[in-house]
Amino acid sequence: MSDLRYRTAGESHGPALLAIVEGVPAGLRLEASAIDADLARRQGGFGRSRRQALERDRVRILSGLKRGRTLGSPIALLVGNADDSIDRLPNLRAPRPGHADLAGCLKYGTRDVRAVLERSSARETVARVAAGAVARALLRKFAVEVFGYVLSIGAVRAAPRRVPAWGGGPLESEGLSRLGEARAARDASPFASLDPGAAVGMRREVEAAARQGDTVGGLFEVVALGVPPGLGSFATGEGRIDGRLARALMSIPAVKGVEIGLGFAAARMRGSRVHDPILRRDGGGWGGWARDGNRAGGVEGGVSNGEAVLVRAAMKPLPTLRRGLPSVNLETRAPERGTFQRSDVCAVPAASVVGEAAVAFEIARAFLEKFGGDSISEVSAARRAYLESLGSV
Ligand SMILES: Cc1cc2nc3c(=O)[nH]c(=O)nc-3n(C[C@H](O)[C@H](O)[C@H](O)COP(=O)(O)O)c2cc1C
Repeated sequence: MSDLRYRTAGESHGPALLAIVEGVPAGLRLEASAIDADLARRQGGFGRSRRQALERDRVRILSGLKRGRTLGSPIALLVGNADDSIDRLPNLRAPRPGHADLAGCLKYGTRDVRAVLERSSARETVARVAAGAVARALLRKFAVEVFGYVLSIGAVRAAPRRVPAWGGGPLESEGLSRLGEARAARDASPFASLDPGAAVGMRREVEAAARQGDTVGGLFEVVALGVPPGLGSFATGEGRIDGRLARALMSIPAVKGVEIGLGFAAARMRGSRVHDPILRRDGGGWGGWARDGNRAGGVEGGVSNGEAVLVRAAMKPLPTLRRGLPSVNLETRAPERGTFQRSDVCAVPAASVVGEAAVAFEIARAFLEKFGGDSISEVSAARRAYLESLGSV
């Protein structure tokens, strides 16, 4: 049994993006169509550039499967780029503020901005979404669902009443039907939002920015349902699931803030209003253990507590602006506006899909740390024995 992990490779305009996922137990059914569905959602959303119309991201699973089931060996995933013009594209003369352009040139001692941006580009998140889809397939097998959606675009927020009060405990029929409704609402929205009423304002926000050659950011939330208590660790800082989730989300390009549960709002409140009372619920919760409320966002002491895991991330407005921001020509040293190249006006819906993948992967990793085995049946047996033991704690 090995640690669940992945690596990615590939450039924005190279031949392909790749992910290698290691540590998936043998015997899991994995379908390319499930990965493709997540890739398609990553390409969607109002305010994207023409690149998304050009690319039709589809995965090829190159290894790790036999007759649609995992073998326990590394799973290699390949998504080809339709635009693979890396060797023909011109260099950028003026690095763009807000991108890795200048810092990357200084780091590598080069004036070749193109050499930096080809890898720093968020097209790399294609590979993360593909790896995350493998984690989601694993979690789904054990009745854990991860769901991402947009809370706000620029200054326009979804109405709070539209966001369900996600329940804790094992994911059963009521939770599944609430999730199904939320999924239908999200997938019908060009903003991956649960509030159809907010769409008009969100569209206006993006259109106004586009007219002015500007960009907008926003907030998205990821919820994980059916997560059993006990994933992660309080024994080491590294093992804490909250820290791991924050790192996974913060490593998404343009994410500048992460909250768990009440997050920053808790800093203004009294402890008596923040912490979730513990109760017994016969026949419910995890072995009868349950909570009254979920302000903690499903994590206490760096360990999942059996409530829905709730994390939120803030995405900054995208840094490539049509008019360009003040910069300097790397050759002449003269002031010049940052070079514009094909770019989104808003990518918050896409980022919510990447966030979903990031959270799924971290939870799946912690899940296998607790219940891991070489085969799915070993994992199932370990999980079952643990869940049966909870009532007698
Ligand atoms: C899904 C997604 C799509 C993005 N698309 C663009 C884009 O079209 N134009 C752009 O300037 N930045 C885009 N970004 C953000 C940049 O990649 C990011 O701001 C840049 O790499 C600098 O990293 P930092 O913002 O984390 O410092 C996108 C980010 C994500 C997650």
